[in-house]
Amino acid sequence: MKHRVPPHKIPTSNTGKLIEVQEHEIALFNIGGHFYAVDDECPHAGWRLSEGELTGSVVTCLLHGAKFDVRNGRCVGGFTCADVQCYSVEEKDGALYIELV
Ligand code: FES
Repeated sequence: MKHRVPPHKIPTSNTGKLIEVQEHEIALFNIGGHFYAVDDECPHAGWRLSEGELTGSVVTCLLHGAKFDVRNGRCVGGFTCADVQCYSVEEKDGALYIELV
């Protein structure tokens, strides 16, 4: 099922924002006008990825430095860590929708 993101929750370009979808906390990122969503909870020890440092498509967790590509959820650096769950995001008629799996 697709869930509409409230307009005030849509992050500005090259930032991330925490949103809640059916009690799931999700980090939504805007990478140059393209949107990506991953679990907000870092798979290492649970820090909020929405508060991480975003460089291009990579968010760095501020607690221990694991890096995740928000386009596919893969851990790409910092240290070896599990990937983070990602969710599909769709733009339609000026609105943004996230689909939980
Ligand atoms: S909690 Fe994210 S790297 Fe440790």
